[in-house]
Amino acid sequence: MSARGHAFGIDIGGSGIKGAAVDLATGELVHHRIKIPTPHPATPKAVAETVARLVAEAGWDGPVGITLPCVVLDGVAHTAANVDPAWIGTDARTLFGSALGGRQVTVLNDADAAGLAEDRYGAAKDYAGLVMLLTFGTGIGSALLYHGTLVPNSELGHLEVGGMETEHRAAASVKERDGLSYEQWAARVSTVLIGLENLFWPTVFVAGGGISRDADHWIPLLTNRTPVIAADLKNTAGIVGAAMAVAAGIAP
Ligand code: BGC
Repeated sequence: MSARGHAFGIDIGGSGIKGAAVDLATGELVHHRIKIPTPHPATPKAVAETVARLVAEAGWDGPVGITLPCVVLDGVAHTAANVDPAWIGTDARTLFGSALGGRQVTVLNDADAAGLAEDRYGAAKDYAGLVMLLTFGTGIGSALLYHGTLVPNSELGHLEVGGMETEHRAAASVKERDGLSYEQWAARVSTVLIGLENLFWPTVFVAGGGISRDADHWIPLLTNRTPVIAADLKNTAGIVGAAMAVAAGIAP
C-alpha cells in the first residue's frame, strides 16, 4: 500500500520503534500507530530488522522517513549521545534502504523531525520567525525552524549554559534521577531557556518530549522571557516529521 499525499514515518526511540502512514494534507496518521519494542542492544543491524518488520506489518511499499537520536548528515549518523555507539559512522540511509528493498528513504535527527511537524501542523503553526523546539527526555533534543525552514542538527542539548551541558542540567531524566520537584526542575529549565534566548532570540519555544504532557505543572513556573508552549502532537510528532521529510526530499 502507498497512496498519493501520504508518506510513512518511523520514530526510533529508546523503548519503542513507532511508525505509521501520514496524511500530509492534515498531519494526521492514516491508521493507528504501530509500535515494536526497541531491540537491546539497539545496534544498527537489529534496528534495521525491526524497521523492516514494522513496515511489512503496515503493508506499506512507498517512501519511508526515519528518525535517529543522532546528528545525521547525508544519511550518515555522526553522534550517539544516548544510543548504541555502533551508530557512529553508520550510513543509516543505505542500511535502512537495503533493509526496505531499495526504496526511497530519508534519515534525520529525532528532534528535527518533531520540529518540522510542530511547526507545520502543531503548536507553532501560527508563529512566524524563529521557532525553537526542545524535547525533554533522556537528553534534550533541539530543532530550529525559521519561517518553516529547518536548520538541521542544532544539538543545543550539548550547549554549555552556566558551565554545564543543558541536557545534563535539565533533561527530564535528570528530574527523575535526582527526584526533583516541578519547582526545582523548572528553575533548571529556566536557566537553560534564558541562556538560549539570549543567544538565539526565538519567537517561541515549543516544549516537547513525554514530560510536555504535564506541561500545566511546570510551564507556568518558568521565569524566562520568551513564550513557552507545549507541543501539540505529543507522541506522533517524530512520525509525522519523518514522513514530511521524505515527502519533501529533505536530506540533512
Ligand atoms: C542527542 C540529539 C537528540 C536528543 C534527543 C541528544 O542527546 O545528541 O541528537 O536529538 O538527545 O533524543
